Amino acid sequence: MRLDKVLGHVGYGSRKEVQKLIKAKKVTVDGKCIAKSEANVNPETQVICVSGKPIDYKAYYYYLLNKPAGYVSATEDPRDETVIDLLMQMDRNKELFPVGRLDKDTEGLLVLTNNGKLAHDLLSPKKHVDKIYYAKVKGEMVPEDTQVFAQGMTLKDGTTYRPGKLEIISSGEFSEIYVTISEGKFHQVKKMVQFVGKEVVYLQRIQMGQLKLPKDLALGEYRQLTEDELVELQSQV
Ligand code: URA
Repeated sequence: MRLDKVLGHVGYGSRKEVQKLIKAKKVTVDGKCIAKSEANVNPETQVICVSGKPIDYKAYYYYLLNKPAGYVSATEDPRDETVIDLLMQMDRNKELFPVGRLDKDTEGLLVLTNNGKLAHDLLSPKKHVDKIYYAKVKGEMVPEDTQVFAQGMTLKDGTTYRPGKLEIISSGEFSEIYVTISEGKFHQVKKMVQFVGKEVVYLQRIQMGQLKLPKDLALGEYRQLTEDELVELQSQV
């Protein structure tokens, strides 16, 4: 791979920015300064450093973000801030995109990657990857609602939802629930709750497949998936 391409891929910016770094003799390959952008390198086997710091080369990157409310799950938006705006510049340059969508007001677990195939597979309805949500609901959730969720639903507009699992944590004027679904249709959890006559007032995704939202990841924070988490996630599809 060309040296400038490798540096672009790991997040050092546009071709121009990267070429500037290389020209300024900031880049070493196996300890030797390389000042040519077109130099052929192998980022899998060679140690490439920028200003003395080894680059983190991976063909694919996988991040886990604790999405706060107020951000849209897209890479660009004319009006709103996107989840990509929460990343450091180096990571923004990696051309990551969110795996699926959480509503603007939904919080919690969102995977970001540049691996289109994995993203596609994780979202494919055929693969049945379970997503678990925690919700606060206005209204009293009752045991019969659990049965309605378990049977699946057809909305008035003809939208159908496969059976989902409803667990009631607490119920009263406001209730707390967990909902497990294997699809990811538009506003699905909110609409399922609406179907049984109640209203979601807070929604958080806490799990996707075996991947759990880590307790120590604050809202707006993100980190790369660990090897184990990645293996687990890949084994879902
Ligand atoms: N269901 C919803 O209603 N909203 C989300 O963001 C995710 C699932």
